Amino acid sequence: MADTAARAIAERLRAECAEEIDRLGTGFRERPWLREAFLAVPREVFVPDRVWWPHRSAEDGLFPLLDRGLRPRQWLRSVYRARVPLITQIADGAVLPDGPTDRTDFTGSISCPAVVVSMLRHLDPQPGERILEIGTGTGYGTALLARRVGAGAVTSVEIDKALATHAGVALRAVGCAPRLVVGDGEGGHPPGAPYDRVIATAAFRRLPQALLDQLRPGGVLLAPLDTPFGCDGLARLTADGHGRAHGRFVGAVDFMKVRGQRDRPTSYAELGWPTWGDYRVTVEHGHQHIRTTL
Ligand SMILES: C[S@@+](CC[C@H](N)C(=O)[O-])C[C@H]1O[C@@H](n2cnc3c(N)ncnc32)[C@H](O)[C@@H]1O
Repeated sequence: MADTAARAIAERLRAECAEEIDRLGTGFRERPWLREAFLAVPREVFVPDRVWWPHRSAEDGLFPLLDRGLRPRQWLRSVYRARVPLITQIADGAVLPDGPTDRTDFTGSISCPAVVVSMLRHLDPQPGERILEIGTGTGYGTALLARRVGAGAVTSVEIDKALATHAGVALRAVGCAPRLVVGDGEGGHPPGAPYDRVIATAAFRRLPQALLDQLRPGGVLLAPLDTPFGCDGLARLTADGHGRAHGRFVGAVDFMKVRGQRDRPTSYAELGWPTWGDYRVTVEHGHQHIRTTL
Protein backbone atom coordinates (compact mmCIF):
# COMPACT_ATOMS: atom_id res chain seq x y z
CA MET A 1 0.00 0.00 0.00
CA ALA A 2 1.38 3.45 -0.89
CA ASP A 3 2.03 5.72 2.10
CA THR A 4 -0.64 8.30 1.21
CA ALA A 5 -3.27 5.63 0.57
CA ALA A 6 -2.42 3.94 3.88
CA ARG A 7 -2.63 7.28 5.74
CA ALA A 8 -6.04 8.03 4.23
CA ILE A 9 -7.35 4.58 5.18
CA ALA A 10 -5.93 4.95 8.69
CA GLU A 11 -7.67 8.32 9.12
CA ARG A 12 -10.99 6.88 8.01
CA LEU A 13 -10.62 3.86 10.32
CA ARG A 14 -9.67 6.16 13.20
CA ALA A 15 -12.78 8.27 12.66
CA GLU A 16 -14.96 5.14 12.51
CA CYS A 17 -13.33 3.81 15.66
CA ALA A 18 -14.03 7.13 17.41
CA GLU A 19 -17.69 6.84 16.39
CA GLU A 20 -17.87 3.37 17.88
CA ILE A 21 -16.28 4.60 21.11
CA ASP A 22 -18.92 7.35 21.12
CA ARG A 23 -21.65 4.74 20.85
CA LEU A 24 -20.07 2.72 23.67
CA GLY A 25 -20.16 5.89 25.77
CA THR A 26 -16.80 5.33 27.44
CA GLY A 27 -15.59 8.89 27.63
CA PHE A 28 -15.61 11.20 24.62
CA ARG A 29 -18.81 12.97 25.61
CA GLU A 30 -17.53 13.91 29.06
CA ARG A 31 -14.00 14.74 27.89
CA PRO A 32 -13.89 16.46 24.48
CA TRP A 33 -10.08 16.74 24.70
CA LEU A 34 -9.92 12.94 24.57
CA ARG A 35 -11.75 12.78 21.25
CA GLU A 36 -9.43 15.46 19.84
CA ALA A 37 -6.36 13.55 21.06
CA PHE A 38 -7.69 10.24 19.76
CA LEU A 39 -8.24 11.68 16.29
CA ALA A 40 -4.85 13.41 16.29
CA VAL A 41 -2.61 10.51 17.36
CA PRO A 42 -1.95 7.88 14.65
CA ARG A 43 -2.36 4.65 16.62
CA GLU A 44 -0.80 2.63 13.77
CA VAL A 45 2.59 4.24 14.48
CA PHE A 46 2.63 2.54 17.90
CA VAL A 47 1.62 -0.98 16.86
CA PRO A 48 4.49 -3.32 15.96
CA ASP A 49 4.44 -4.74 12.41
CA ARG A 50 3.70 -8.21 13.80
CA VAL A 51 1.22 -8.72 16.59
CA TRP A 52 -1.04 -11.52 17.73
CA TRP A 53 -4.81 -11.28 17.58
CA PRO A 54 -6.04 -11.99 21.14
CA HIS A 55 -8.75 -14.51 20.19
CA ARG A 56 -8.18 -18.07 19.02
CA SER A 57 -8.92 -18.89 15.41
CA ALA A 58 -11.91 -21.19 14.89
CA GLU A 59 -9.86 -23.14 12.33
CA ASP A 60 -6.77 -24.20 14.23
CA GLY A 61 -7.42 -22.95 17.77
CA LEU A 62 -4.27 -20.79 17.71
CA PHE A 63 -3.85 -17.04 18.25
CA PRO A 64 -3.31 -15.71 14.69
CA LEU A 65 -0.36 -13.50 13.79
CA LEU A 66 -1.19 -10.23 12.03
CA ASP A 67 1.64 -9.28 9.72
CA ARG A 68 1.68 -5.74 8.35
CA GLY A 69 4.09 -6.74 5.56
CA LEU A 70 1.93 -9.62 4.34
CA ARG A 71 -1.59 -8.27 4.90
CA PRO A 72 -1.39 -4.49 5.49
CA ARG A 73 -5.14 -3.81 5.32
CA GLN A 74 -6.01 -6.60 7.75
CA TRP A 75 -3.31 -5.34 10.13
CA LEU A 76 -4.57 -1.74 9.88
CA ARG A 77 -8.20 -2.72 10.44
CA SER A 78 -7.13 -4.61 13.57
CA VAL A 79 -5.32 -1.54 14.89
CA TYR A 80 -8.64 0.35 14.90
CA ARG A 81 -10.94 -2.26 16.43
CA ALA A 82 -12.41 -0.35 19.39
CA ARG A 83 -12.75 -3.32 21.69
CA VAL A 84 -9.78 -5.47 20.74
CA PRO A 85 -6.32 -5.25 22.32
CA LEU A 86 -3.41 -6.62 20.28
CA ILE A 87 -0.70 -8.79 21.79
CA THR A 88 2.77 -7.35 21.31
CA GLN A 89 4.79 -9.72 23.48
CA ILE A 90 4.57 -13.27 24.82
CA ALA A 91 6.69 -14.79 27.60
CA ASP A 92 8.72 -11.60 28.04
CA GLY A 93 9.84 -11.85 24.42
CA ALA A 94 10.83 -15.53 24.42
CA VAL A 95 8.20 -16.29 21.76
CA LEU A 96 9.09 -14.65 18.45
CA PRO A 97 6.29 -13.08 16.38
CA ASP A 98 6.81 -15.43 13.47
CA GLY A 99 3.55 -17.34 13.40
CA PRO A 100 0.30 -18.24 15.18
CA THR A 101 0.73 -19.51 18.72
CA ASP A 102 -0.93 -21.57 21.38
CA ARG A 103 0.84 -19.68 24.19
CA THR A 104 -1.31 -17.71 26.59
CA ASP A 105 1.42 -16.09 28.71
CA PHE A 106 0.93 -12.65 27.17
CA THR A 107 3.29 -10.07 28.66
CA GLY A 108 2.80 -7.05 26.40
CA SER A 109 -0.14 -5.54 24.50
CA ILE A 110 -1.60 -2.37 23.15
CA SER A 111 -4.75 -1.89 25.19
CA CYS A 112 -7.98 -1.65 23.21
CA PRO A 113 -8.98 1.90 22.24
CA ALA A 114 -12.24 1.85 24.23
CA VAL A 115 -10.43 0.91 27.45
CA VAL A 116 -7.66 3.47 26.90
CA VAL A 117 -10.29 6.18 26.47
CA SER A 118 -12.28 4.99 29.48
CA MET A 119 -9.20 4.98 31.72
CA LEU A 120 -8.12 8.47 30.64
CA ARG A 121 -11.64 9.71 31.27
CA HIS A 122 -11.46 8.39 34.84
CA LEU A 123 -7.93 9.71 35.31
CA ASP A 124 -9.17 13.14 34.17
CA PRO A 125 -5.74 14.80 33.77
CA GLN A 126 -5.71 18.59 33.63
CA PRO A 127 -3.40 20.71 31.44
CA GLY A 128 0.04 21.08 32.99
CA GLU A 129 -0.41 18.41 35.66
CA ARG A 130 2.47 16.04 36.36
CA ILE A 131 1.57 12.50 35.37
CA LEU A 132 3.30 9.22 36.15
CA GLU A 133 2.35 6.27 33.94
CA ILE A 134 3.30 2.71 34.90
CA GLY A 135 3.49 0.36 31.90
CA THR A 136 4.45 2.41 28.85
CA GLY A 137 3.78 -0.58 26.59
CA THR A 138 3.66 0.72 23.02
CA GLY A 139 3.63 4.36 24.16
CA TYR A 140 0.19 5.01 22.65
CA GLY A 141 -1.51 6.00 25.92
CA THR A 142 1.58 8.05 26.76
CA ALA A 143 1.08 10.05 23.56
CA LEU A 144 -2.59 10.72 24.39
CA LEU A 145 -1.62 11.86 27.88
CA ALA A 146 1.07 14.11 26.48
CA ARG A 147 -1.46 15.85 24.23
CA ARG A 148 -3.46 16.79 27.29
CA VAL A 149 -0.82 17.81 29.82
CA GLY A 150 2.25 18.43 27.65
CA ALA A 151 4.96 15.86 27.01
CA GLY A 152 7.31 17.51 29.54
CA ALA A 153 4.83 16.73 32.32
CA VAL A 154 4.62 12.99 31.57
CA THR A 155 6.90 10.36 33.06
CA SER A 156 6.32 6.80 31.89
CA VAL A 157 7.96 3.69 33.33
CA GLU A 158 8.28 0.40 31.43
CA ILE A 159 9.99 -2.65 32.87
CA ASP A 160 10.76 -4.32 29.54
CA LYS A 161 13.68 -2.77 27.71
CA ALA A 162 12.65 -3.98 24.22
CA LEU A 163 9.10 -2.65 24.62
CA ALA A 164 10.42 0.63 26.04
CA THR A 165 12.74 1.03 23.05
CA HIS A 166 9.88 0.45 20.59
CA ALA A 167 7.73 2.98 22.46
CA GLY A 168 10.53 5.56 22.37
CA VAL A 169 10.87 5.21 18.60
CA ALA A 170 7.10 5.54 18.07
CA LEU A 171 6.81 8.57 20.35
CA ARG A 172 9.67 10.31 18.58
CA ALA A 173 8.00 9.54 15.24
CA VAL A 174 4.94 11.55 16.31
CA GLY A 175 7.11 14.33 17.74
CA CYS A 176 6.41 13.55 21.39
CA ALA A 177 9.16 13.56 24.03
CA PRO A 178 7.95 12.52 27.49
CA ARG A 179 10.39 11.25 30.12
CA LEU A 180 10.72 7.49 29.49
CA VAL A 181 12.18 5.32 32.20
CA VAL A 182 13.13 1.65 31.98
CA GLY A 183 12.55 0.17 35.40
CA ASP A 184 10.15 -1.42 37.84
CA GLY A 185 7.13 0.84 38.10
CA GLU A 186 6.20 -0.62 41.47
CA GLY A 187 8.78 1.81 42.83
CA GLY A 188 7.31 4.73 40.86
CA HIS A 189 9.90 7.29 39.80
CA PRO A 190 10.88 9.43 42.82
CA PRO A 191 12.92 12.04 40.85
CA GLY A 192 9.72 13.25 39.16
CA ALA A 193 7.56 13.31 42.32
CA PRO A 194 5.24 14.66 43.53
CA TYR A 195 2.79 13.70 40.81
CA ASP A 196 -0.73 15.00 40.37
CA ARG A 197 -1.92 11.73 38.89
CA VAL A 198 -0.59 8.20 38.54
CA ILE A 199 -2.02 5.73 36.04
CA ALA A 200 -1.07 2.08 35.77
CA THR A 201 -1.79 0.01 32.68
CA ALA A 202 -0.72 -3.27 34.24
CA ALA A 203 -2.67 -4.74 37.16
CA PHE A 204 -1.60 -4.98 40.78
CA ARG A 205 -2.65 -7.53 43.32
CA ARG A 206 -1.34 -5.20 46.02
CA LEU A 207 -1.12 -1.46 45.33
CA PRO A 208 2.47 -0.31 45.92
CA GLN A 209 2.89 2.18 48.77
CA ALA A 210 5.60 3.95 46.74
CA LEU A 211 3.00 5.14 44.24
CA LEU A 212 0.86 6.67 46.99
CA ASP A 213 3.90 8.28 48.57
CA GLN A 214 4.77 9.98 45.28
CA LEU A 215 1.35 11.61 44.88
CA ARG A 216 0.69 15.14 46.12
CA PRO A 217 -2.11 15.51 48.70
CA GLY A 218 -5.34 15.22 46.70
CA GLY A 219 -3.51 13.45 43.86
CA VAL A 220 -5.21 10.56 42.07
CA LEU A 221 -4.10 6.97 41.52
CA LEU A 222 -5.92 5.02 38.81
CA ALA A 223 -4.93 1.37 38.60
CA PRO A 224 -6.34 -2.04 37.72
CA LEU A 225 -6.50 -4.11 40.91
CA ASP A 226 -6.93 -7.88 40.85
CA THR A 227 -10.21 -9.05 42.41
CA PRO A 228 -11.53 -12.44 43.48
CA PHE A 229 -14.17 -12.11 40.73
CA GLY A 230 -12.01 -13.14 37.76
CA CYS A 231 -11.39 -9.62 36.44
CA ASP A 232 -9.57 -6.51 37.60
CA GLY A 233 -11.43 -3.66 39.24
CA LEU A 234 -10.36 -0.22 38.05
CA ALA A 235 -9.49 1.47 41.35
CA ARG A 236 -9.54 5.27 41.58
CA LEU A 237 -8.03 6.52 44.82
CA THR A 238 -7.27 9.99 46.16
CA ALA A 239 -4.11 10.41 48.26
CA ASP A 240 -4.18 12.32 51.54
CA GLY A 241 -0.48 13.22 51.50
CA HIS A 242 0.20 11.17 54.64
CA GLY A 243 0.72 7.81 52.98
CA ARG A 244 -2.97 6.95 52.77
CA ALA A 245 -5.39 6.89 49.86
CA HIS A 246 -9.11 6.22 49.67
CA GLY A 247 -11.40 5.59 46.77
CA ARG A 248 -13.59 3.16 44.91
CA PHE A 249 -13.85 0.94 41.89
CA VAL A 250 -15.05 2.81 38.82
CA GLY A 251 -15.12 -0.06 36.33
CA ALA A 252 -14.08 -3.59 35.45
CA VAL A 253 -11.06 -4.23 33.22
CA ASP A 254 -8.75 -7.09 32.35
CA PHE A 255 -5.01 -6.36 32.39
CA MET A 256 -1.83 -8.37 32.56
CA LYS A 257 -0.30 -8.26 36.02
CA VAL A 258 2.82 -6.24 36.80
CA ARG A 259 5.89 -8.41 36.44
CA GLY A 260 6.58 -8.73 40.17
CA GLN A 261 2.98 -9.72 41.03
CA ARG A 262 2.19 -12.37 38.46
CA ASP A 263 1.74 -15.25 40.89
CA ARG A 264 -1.80 -15.93 42.02
CA PRO A 265 -2.40 -14.97 45.66
CA THR A 266 -2.76 -17.83 48.10
CA SER A 267 -5.50 -15.85 49.82
CA TYR A 268 -7.44 -12.74 48.83
CA ALA A 269 -8.11 -12.07 52.51
CA GLU A 270 -4.38 -11.35 52.90
CA LEU A 271 -4.74 -8.68 50.22
CA GLY A 272 -7.47 -6.94 52.17
CA TRP A 273 -10.49 -8.47 50.44
CA PRO A 274 -13.61 -9.41 52.39
CA THR A 275 -14.04 -13.17 52.54
CA TRP A 276 -16.99 -14.68 50.67
CA GLY A 277 -19.05 -14.84 53.83
CA ASP A 278 -18.74 -11.06 54.20
CA TYR A 279 -20.72 -10.38 51.03
CA ARG A 280 -24.40 -10.16 51.95
CA VAL A 281 -26.99 -10.69 49.24
CA THR A 282 -30.60 -9.76 49.90
CA VAL A 283 -33.49 -10.06 47.47
CA GLU A 284 -36.83 -8.60 48.43
CA HIS A 285 -39.86 -7.93 46.27
CA GLY A 286 -37.81 -7.80 43.08
CA HIS A 287 -35.03 -5.61 44.54
CA GLN A 288 -31.56 -7.00 45.02
CA HIS A 289 -28.99 -5.58 47.48
CA ILE A 290 -25.40 -6.67 47.76
CA ARG A 291 -23.16 -5.20 50.44
CA THR A 292 -20.35 -6.16 52.74
CA THR A 293 -20.32 -6.13 56.49
CA LEU A 294 -17.39 -3.71 56.48
C1 LIG B 1 -1.12 -3.94 29.00
S1 LIG B 1 0.51 -3.47 28.65
C2 LIG B 1 0.42 -1.71 28.53
C3 LIG B 1 -0.30 -1.23 27.38
C4 LIG B 1 -0.11 0.22 27.08
N1 LIG B 1 -0.96 1.00 27.89
C5 LIG B 1 -0.43 0.42 25.60
O1 LIG B 1 -1.61 0.60 25.27
O2 LIG B 1 0.49 0.32 24.81
C6 LIG B 1 1.28 -3.61 30.24
C7 LIG B 1 2.70 -3.13 30.23
O3 LIG B 1 3.16 -3.04 31.57
C8 LIG B 1 4.51 -3.41 31.59
N2 LIG B 1 4.88 -3.76 32.97
C9 LIG B 1 4.63 -4.91 33.64
N3 LIG B 1 5.12 -4.83 34.89
C10 LIG B 1 5.68 -3.61 35.01
C11 LIG B 1 6.35 -2.94 36.07
N4 LIG B 1 6.54 -3.52 37.26
N5 LIG B 1 6.80 -1.69 35.86
C12 LIG B 1 6.62 -1.09 34.64
N6 LIG B 1 6.00 -1.68 33.61
C13 LIG B 1 5.53 -2.92 33.79
C14 LIG B 1 4.57 -4.57 30.61
O4 LIG B 1 5.89 -4.83 30.19
C15 LIG B 1 3.65 -4.06 29.51
O5 LIG B 1 4.36 -3.34 28.56
